[in-house]
Amino acid sequence: MRKTLRYGIMGAGNIARQFADGVRDAHRSTITATASRSLEKAKAFNAGTPYGDYAALLDDPQVDAVYVALPNSMHHEWTLRCLAAGKHVLCEKPMASDEAQTREMFDAAQRAGLLLMEAFMYRCHPQTHAVLEQVRSGAIGKLKLIRTAFCYSTGKPQGNIRFDAALAGGALMDIGCYCISMARLLAGCEPTAMHAVGRLGASGIDEYATGVLDFPGDVIAEFCCGMTVQTNNTAIICGDEGYLEIPWPWKPQAERAVFIRDGQVPPRQDSGKQSRQPRQEFVVNAGRPLYAVEADDFAQSVLDGKPLTVSKQDTLGNMHVLDELRRQVGVKF
Ligand SMILES: NC(=O)c1ccc[n+]([C@@H]2O[C@H](COP(=O)([O-])OP(=O)(O)OC[C@H]3O[C@@H](n4cnc5c(N)ncnc54)[C@H](OP(=O)(O)O)[C@@H]3O)[C@@H](O)[C@H]2O)c1
Repeated sequence: MRKTLRYGIMGAGNIARQFADGVRDAHRSTITATASRSLEKAKAFNAGTPYGDYAALLDDPQVDAVYVALPNSMHHEWTLRCLAAGKHVLCEKPMASDEAQTREMFDAAQRAGLLLMEAFMYRCHPQTHAVLEQVRSGAIGKLKLIRTAFCYSTGKPQGNIRFDAALAGGALMDIGCYCISMARLLAGCEPTAMHAVGRLGASGIDEYATGVLDFPGDVIAEFCCGMTVQTNNTAIICGDEGYLEIPWPWKPQAERAVFIRDGQVPPRQDSGKQSRQPRQEFVVNAGRPLYAVEADDFAQSVLDGKPLTVSKQDTLGNMHVLDELRRQVGVKF
C-alpha cells in the first residue's frame, strides 16, 4: 500500500505555486511532475519532472493524481482527460463552467473508479471543522444568519483569467463560490430561493456582486464578492444566543487560526435575566500550511478511503447556485 500520493501539477500559475510550496510541508503528498504550455516555464517552476504540454503529464506513471490549476473554462476538458488516463483529480474551484459540465466530470470519475474533488482548501482546514462543530453543538443557539465577504481590488485586469468571460471568470465564480460554499455547509442543506445583483465589467463578467440565499429552517445567508472592491473578508455566523466571528475564514493561518464566540443569551422566561456568554477565543493549529493540509486531505481519501471532504453532492449544489446567481446577474459564458 502506497503511503504518499504523487501529484502532477497541470498549469504552472499563481495557485499552482502556492500549492507546490505548501506541499513541501505535507505528510502524505509529494509532487512528481509539473506540466505547463511552456517547457521553460515548467522547468523554472521546479517541482518534479517538467513537461511542455499538459497531455504529457497524463502518460507519466509516476503521477497518481493531477492537481488541475487551469482557468475555470478548462477544468472540464482536462479533468475528463486525466480521468480517462487513470489519474485521480483534485480540481481547482469552481469545479467547471457550470453544473452540467460538473455532472459529466463526476460521472466520468465514477465510471473510472477514480476520485475527483473540488479544491476548496478552506474546507480541509481544522478551523472550518471547529466552526462547524460550534454551530452544530448549539454554541450560538439557533442558527439564523450567515454573513460572509470575499473581495479584493486588483489593479491589473488585463490578461487576468478572472476578467475573461471566455475563461469563465467573474467574481461569483472566483470568490463568491466560497461564500456560497460556507453558507450551504453551515445551513446543512440547499437554499430554496436565491437572489443576486451585480455589476458587469467590459468583458461581460461580474466584477462585484452581492447575494442572498434563503434556506429551510429560517436560515438566511448574505454575502458579497468582488474583484474591484475591498472589504474585510470575514465571516459572521449569527444565532439567537451568540455569534461567531471568523477574521480569516478562507485562508486560515497554519499554526494560529483564531476565531471568536461572543454574544448574549436572551432572557429566559423563568429568570428574566439576560446572561452574557463569556467572549471566547478559539485557536486552531493545523500544524502545516493550508495547501499541505488540502493535499494531505485528498491523499487520505485516495490512499486510505477517507470520505471526500468536499463531496460530489456538495460540489453539484454549489455549481447549481452559481449557475442561477450568474443568470440573475446577467453573466453569459
Ligand atoms: N484554492 C485557491 O486558493 C485558489 C486561489 C487562486 C486561484 N484558484 C483557482 O485556480 C485556477 C487558476 O487560478 P490562478 O490564480 O492560478 O490563475 P493563473 O495564475 O492565471 O494560472 C492559470 C494557469 O493556467 C494555464 N493556462 C492555460 N491556458 C491559459 C489561458 N488561456 N490563459 C491563462 N492561463 C492559461 C497557465 O499555465 P501554463 O502557462 O503553465 O500552462 C496559467 O499559468 C482557477 O480555477 C482559480 O479559480 C484557486
